[in-house]
Amino acid sequence: MPFSILEAQDFNESPFSLLERGMLLTVRDGARINTMTVGWGGLGRIWGKNAVYATVRPERHSFSLLEKADSFSFSALPPGREMDDLISYLGRVSGRDEDKIQKSGLTLAFEEGVPYFEEADTVFICRTMAVPRLREEDFLPGMRIMEDWYDGGLHHVFIGEILKILKAGSK
Ligand SMILES: Cc1cc2nc3c(=O)[nH]c(=O)nc-3n(C[C@H](O)[C@H](O)[C@H](O)COP(=O)(O)O)c2cc1C
Repeated sequence: MPFSILEAQDFNESPFSLLERGMLLTVRDGARINTMTVGWGGLGRIWGKNAVYATVRPERHSFSLLEKADSFSFSALPPGREMDDLISYLGRVSGRDEDKIQKSGLTLAFEEGVPYFEEADTVFICRTMAVPRLREEDFLPGMRIMEDWYDGGLHHVFIGEILKILKAGSK
């Protein structure tokens, strides 16, 4: 599928719907490439830039790659049952245990050295700007965030400047 460049102002899909379904965070550290499903994140503005933020727990295999890389892609797959199944698979199985990309049948492509998938509908190519980590002491009392959400590591927030938005098909 050929991609065209989309201006951020022309992106008109709901980030809430995309993230509720799950988006793919794809990262490369040298020869190691991995992808995982992310549902907690957002699209917005910070430090004068258009940005993506993706929250990743330290126990994810992707985390070890993200720590070394200085870029990542954040992609929405086109609607459909087959793609929903892939989102679920990539969010259930770890790249530590299986070559998920090979098993998924998705086709790797690269933009500015950043991996993404030919089958994607929209791809945000991002340069990591900052990685704040959530801390228990930052949660307001009574919100039950620790109790309801954490039995493992607290998420780190990968904030990436959007360098390019690729949109499948012609404009
Ligand atoms: C719909 C959905 C959303 C998810 N959102 C997140 C998320 O925002 N952050 C996170 O750390 N894990 C999230 N996960 C879990 C990871 O995708 C999952 O643990 C995955 O296997 C990690 O892959 P990896 O170990 O290859 O990096 C989500 C899973 C699903 C199915």
